[in-house]
Amino acid sequence: MTEKHDILTIEGIKNCLTTRFIGADIYLFDAIDSTNDHANKLAKQGAKEGTVVLSESQSKGKGRLGRTWFSPSGANIYLSVILRPQMPTSQITLLTFAAAIAVARAIRDVTGLDADIKWPNDILIKGKKVAGILSEMGAKSDTIRFVVIGIGINVNLDKKDIPSELMDKATSIKIESNNAIDRKNLICRVLENLEKWYNLFERNGANDIIKEWKSLAITIGRDVKVQSGNSFVEGRAIDIDESGALLIKDRNGVIQKVLSGDVI
Ligand code: BTN
Repeated sequence: MTEKHDILTIEGIKNCLTTRFIGADIYLFDAIDSTNDHANKLAKQGAKEGTVVLSESQSKGKGRLGRTWFSPSGANIYLSVILRPQMPTSQITLLTFAAAIAVARAIRDVTGLDADIKWPNDILIKGKKVAGILSEMGAKSDTIRFVVIGIGINVNLDKKDIPSELMDKATSIKIESNNAIDRKNLICRVLENLEKWYNLFERNGANDIIKEWKSLAITIGRDVKVQSGNSFVEGRAIDIDESGALLIKDRNGVIQKVLSGDVI
């Protein structure tokens, strides 16, 4: 990043936040290994629900399924939120759906662009990935003790900043809107939407989340190939179930349930 970029400050973010508890405590770093790893440590030390960890860059940004997350300085958003939901561990996928909804809605609010969700929680603009979510939890037997929701958003990256191997599948908000975005404003809108959908989930259960997720998702109704570990499932994605698993009707008409993986 050679050009000047907007500067994130804790005060600036707090001034634009209208949340009740998410962001009451904010940690902001210039560089860190991974905001998720740091949030995990803080959660184990007893950090409050709603604590937010942000960094301008990450040296070991983590993606889903053991991948790395491209985390250069100054252009993007890398944030992790600690939540302490009173839920069984089986609800973690739906909680991650709530975060995907929050990110897609925030991008739509701020830019007017159609940000969509690809199962399970990739955020796409015009078919290319602009944001991803990695949830990690601390649990005691079947009960969640804490969840770290990690959100990475490609905001002001230029085309030249995207590594060639990601070029075909990744984009940024700036590339798609031809405008640099005020990251602080987007962070505030993401956190507000997250608090809203998290509260709704805690209060009313899964129904609202599933309905909203489906209204933003591009996966349902399409022919898909899903990689889950070393195996593949191919067919028409017909729905998600109450736990967030993808239901695929294969060519024999059998409905296969996929709990985690990648639509490729
Ligand atoms: C994905 O693979 O789609 C998930 C990417 C999640 C990246 C974010 S960036 C902030 C947080 N810290 C990490 O190390 N990962 C998540």
